[in-house]
Amino acid sequence: MSLRQKTRELKKRMQNAQQGGGMSAIEKQVSMGKLTARERILAILDQDSFHEYDLFVEHAGKDFDMDKKYLPGDGVVTGTGTVDGHPVCIYAQDFTVAGGSLGYMHAKKITKIMDHALKMKVPLIGINDSGGARIQEGVNSLAGYGEIFYRNTISSGVIPQISVILGPCAGGAVYSPALTDFVFVVDGISKMFITGPEVIKTVLGEEISMEDLGGARTHASISGNAHFFAYNEFECFTQIKTLLSFIPWNNSHKPEMLEAEEPDTKEYKISKIFPNDEKEPYDVRDIIRAIADASFFFEVQELFAPNVVVGFARIEGMTVGIVANQPLYLAGVLDVDSSDKAARFIRFCDAFNIPIITLVDLPGYLPGVDQEHSGVIRHGAKILYAYSEATVPKITIILRKAYGGGYIAMGSRHLQADFVFAWPTAEIAVMGPEGAANIIFKKEIQEAENPEEMRKKKVEEYRVKFANPYVAAAYGHIDAVIDPKDTRMYIAHSLQISTNKTVIMPEKKHGIPPF
Ligand code: HXC
Repeated sequence: MSLRQKTRELKKRMQNAQQGGGMSAIEKQVSMGKLTARERILAILDQDSFHEYDLFVEHAGKDFDMDKKYLPGDGVVTGTGTVDGHPVCIYAQDFTVAGGSLGYMHAKKITKIMDHALKMKVPLIGINDSGGARIQEGVNSLAGYGEIFYRNTISSGVIPQISVILGPCAGGAVYSPALTDFVFVVDGISKMFITGPEVIKTVLGEEISMEDLGGARTHASISGNAHFFAYNEFECFTQIKTLLSFIPWNNSHKPEMLEAEEPDTKEYKISKIFPNDEKEPYDVRDIIRAIADASFFFEVQELFAPNVVVGFARIEGMTVGIVANQPLYLAGVLDVDSSDKAARFIRFCDAFNIPIITLVDLPGYLPGVDQEHSGVIRHGAKILYAYSEATVPKITIILRKAYGGGYIAMGSRHLQADFVFAWPTAEIAVMGPEGAANIIFKKEIQEAENPEEMRKKKVEEYRVKFANPYVAAAYGHIDAVIDPKDTRMYIAHSLQISTNKTVIMPEKKHGIPPF
């Protein structure tokens, strides 16, 4: 055969392998509002940048007549490409081929591209759309999952790992996304659960729909398994690209520096956002927008544990991770879920050289039997551990309340924040004036002619003495009390000073965080 004939044969073979599971399976996929595996990859990557590998891999199933079946690409598309010019490794399970189920060779394709990602130190994007372990291949399917989980774990903290749930992700398959850094879900399309509604009904007699059990909204707002929620696949792909624009390729790079852009101070002015009444809530995201480049804040886990806000922004062109109490919800307290959310985000930032900016306004940890029994002690400890262990630049600004354990936990000087600033409105004390006065002046209040008046007097006395930033400033626990309008300038300067920050930690194999 001539070169031309051989090339023609190659093209024919490629077309055959790229057909996926055939027209009817593709039509079913489209009718569900879903793109095909290749369409998804092409929509995420830069135009003409996708290089596909292992197109001709064939499945290894022998039993149940599997040896007579042809599964194009064995139900998964893998390759490399670029996003905004930066290289990534990517795979997408193809539900149109045997339900995207994971057999031995399917898993081998995934682990091969994962190995590439780790060796080349580039981000990994995994698109999940699968019925889970290929039942006909038995233990080899389970082995495949184990190999994937191992690589997710080994790659953790070295390269960013992104999971996109664009269909079913059932059974043990959910643990690959759970081991990665960011999970993206799409309304009406993502379905993620360990045991489905049928099994739950049989075993426990509980009835629940697939959507309520493991739909996108459930994971974005209740379970906290998802980090980004989108209404359709294209919105999801835009979110992925935005995330990649903030984070570095790997743990030995810093995030890309962009041109600095001033915030939109007409729309977001601190003096207009921050209330005069100390009891009045405000949206801390507006404060973030008032100090961030172009007033752009890319929030992570927006719908989950909203009492703490986390996400990415830029200050003078530099990526920062922001952790902030949200007075709009539960007065911005720390509880089980918000501690988990903040701790995980802090660890991501620390692993990938992203400075952490903390905005503090909280009355403390959330009290209550439910919280105590849910383990607020061990969950709350995660945030202490994450801040203490983080060696990236840490800059903390106390806006208003910083009481008790909340003061310590939210990136305090004592957990080795590099710069701690307070607004003149800051109140730094063991607890709020009302609670404190009731305890330390209990006798005087009880014995007073007019107990209510005495209580008010003592509350005010305590407020004047302790509920301000100057006691903390007198001990050097904070570095400066600043005019709120100068916050961006102070952060920018602190970042500049911290560029070459170096911390030498004691030698150890690894710590034992309160997982
Ligand atoms: C083999 C599978 C499969 C699987 C789906 N298919 N899941 N083949 N192994 N796990 C095949 C179907 O037989 C069908 O093939 C095609 O994919 C499309 O599936 P449908 O059922 O027609 O699609 P749909 O109605 O949309 O339902 C999707 C589904 C359902 C909800 C995902 O297929 C389903 O419940 N699958 C099984 C889910 C499951 O229990 N997986 C195992 C989990 S245990 P044809 O040839 O008819 O087109 C697990 C352990 C991992 O994953 C442990 C790791 C630690």
